Amino acid sequence: MYEQVAHSLLNEILDRLKPEIRRQDLRHFYTRLGANFYAIHSLFHLLYGKRSDFTEQMINLVEVMANQYITRSKQLEQSDIAREKEHNWFLSQQWVGMALYADGFADDLRGVRSRLPYLQELGINMVHLMPVLKCPESASDGGYAVSDFRQLDSRVGNLDDLRELAESMHKREMLLVFDVVVNHTSDEHAWAQMARSGKQKYQDYYYIFGNRDVPDMFEETMPEIFPETSPGNFTWDETMGKWVMSVFHDYQWDLNYSNPAVFIEMIDIILFWANQGADIVRLDAVAFLWKKIGTSCQNEREAHLILQLMKDCCQVTAPGVLFIAEAIVAPVEIIKYFGEDAVIAKECEIAYNATFMALLWDAVATRNAKLLNQGIRNLPDKLDRATWLNYIRCHDDIGLGFDDRDIRLAGYEPLAHRRFLVDYFTGTYDDSEAKGQPFGVNEKTGDARISGSLASLVGLEWALEQDDPEAIERAVKLILLLHGMILSFGGIPLLYYGDEIGTLNDCSFLQDESKAGDNRWMHRPQLDWQKAELRLRHGTVEQQIFDGLKKIIAVRKSIPAFADFNNRELLELDNPHLFAFWRSHPNQSGDRVLVVANFDASPQYINLNELGNRGMFCYGQVKDLCSGESPALFKEQLVIPPYRFYWLTDQQPEVEL
Ligand code: GLC
Repeated sequence: MYEQVAHSLLNEILDRLKPEIRRQDLRHFYTRLGANFYAIHSLFHLLYGKRSDFTEQMINLVEVMANQYITRSKQLEQSDIAREKEHNWFLSQQWVGMALYADGFADDLRGVRSRLPYLQELGINMVHLMPVLKCPESASDGGYAVSDFRQLDSRVGNLDDLRELAESMHKREMLLVFDVVVNHTSDEHAWAQMARSGKQKYQDYYYIFGNRDVPDMFEETMPEIFPETSPGNFTWDETMGKWVMSVFHDYQWDLNYSNPAVFIEMIDIILFWANQGADIVRLDAVAFLWKKIGTSCQNEREAHLILQLMKDCCQVTAPGVLFIAEAIVAPVEIIKYFGEDAVIAKECEIAYNATFMALLWDAVATRNAKLLNQGIRNLPDKLDRATWLNYIRCHDDIGLGFDDRDIRLAGYEPLAHRRFLVDYFTGTYDDSEAKGQPFGVNEKTGDARISGSLASLVGLEWALEQDDPEAIERAVKLILLLHGMILSFGGIPLLYYGDEIGTLNDCSFLQDESKAGDNRWMHRPQLDWQKAELRLRHGTVEQQIFDGLKKIIAVRKSIPAFADFNNRELLELDNPHLFAFWRSHPNQSGDRVLVVANFDASPQYINLNELGNRGMFCYGQVKDLCSGESPALFKEQLVIPPYRFYWLTDQQPEVEL
């Protein structure tokens, strides 16, 4: 769109760019800047237009984009151009991810590189490397308290190791997801240190107050994130003699994005890591980016403007790079992190599907899909060119952030139901084999979340202790069932390291003083490679899980209807134990798959007539794409065995395993 003010400012900026920047070949940069400048200028103006240094800051921003463009390698630039042409590339069913800690998975970055064949054996082609930037030895929140955004934590490696890892991954056609903690820094970061020493410029990078007046006003409406270990949202800093906003831990200082210098620093950092080979940048805690008195300081409109601006800037310099929004918030809010456009993601192309994750856990505990069906029915439609990150477990706790209305519509009372779930997964409930622990218990609000590894939460730990083969079989089936769901729902499935071999809770964190107060460490294990070797021995639990996953991952990749084109149709069934939906490819008619899952301990039935007019499902021809079996039919009813799922079609499976 031609707009005079933005256009003349752009001309002025280009004239003022430093000579060394002007001399470079900036053809693609100029094209993209021209195309995006109106949006960048408008957003920057909305956020910072009232400041007297607005134009200066705008020039700084363009300079940062230009400088990072100049340092982008030819190879990455080619990949940008290829991805611009094939802009739906990330919606393909080919992508299957895994999140892992470099040290927990393979000691360090070189170790991760040497283990890439293991990941490929399973079918993983996208790796979310948990935070690897420099952070304090102890007060680090697992790497989410960064003390230097441009240096790696020397315990896991250096920049060369990271570049080599990225190169090796790219040769194998694997994607690298890199974590950038945009909302806060460690109190040991140079900016925080300079703020401490009294430098106003850096005090302006944070929310710092001389007395409790403003902090008290904020506290009236801000919830607590870690009520047990870090109550409140402000920390008294002895050296400064001032209060600092620290929403997460007391050593994590919130950055002040109402200062454009903070925005510019952060976009520079994001582009820096894009230039080191990150294909996707995970933006941590994005819901918290804007603080406003009288609000919960989450999901504010300006937080969205900041993300839009980040996306627009990234599109100019590194357009092939995608963003993942880590916003673990209510479904109606999560959806907004794609941006409120009709089609294209204007903020983050990918967002964690925390809603689906929590609903799956609800189905495990209740053995029915009532709330799951209800919750998914009410999950707002997402944009066409945006996708979910579907997961079961990750490094964080499981929050029970369902909509209260949905809980009621499913026939439960919200408070009692949430309490039941916490009791169930912490093994307090009589009929439960789960071995999780409560996390983030807030005595004031009654809120609680859940920690624990996938295997321990579905009862594998308990079953092994009891030496109960039936219970072991049940747990293995549940592990595969849950993965069957994230692999077929629509979006990118993100496995969690260790789950592929049934890793149990690891309580060794209790021996480490810096971790003992945070039981999320029970599901951040040191991968046991001897246990991983057991995947090669027939009949072991590890082999059953690993091979089961390997197979369903391979089958997923062969089903075009599993690409994410908003092509899921939820089925309304009479049977509350079943969760079922159609997936159909928009351009390949006939290519339809019926996904159906039974969360109950008994076989459940689906009446084929309930499927409506689906000609393809002729009796006797229905096949499960995973096993190649034809499911049993009983009096016109299809039988779904306990804790099983089917991907049904009347086409023959194409993969030979
Ligand atoms: C994100 C991370 C979590 C961390 C928090 C603060 O939610 O996933 O592990 O504690 O941000 O950085």
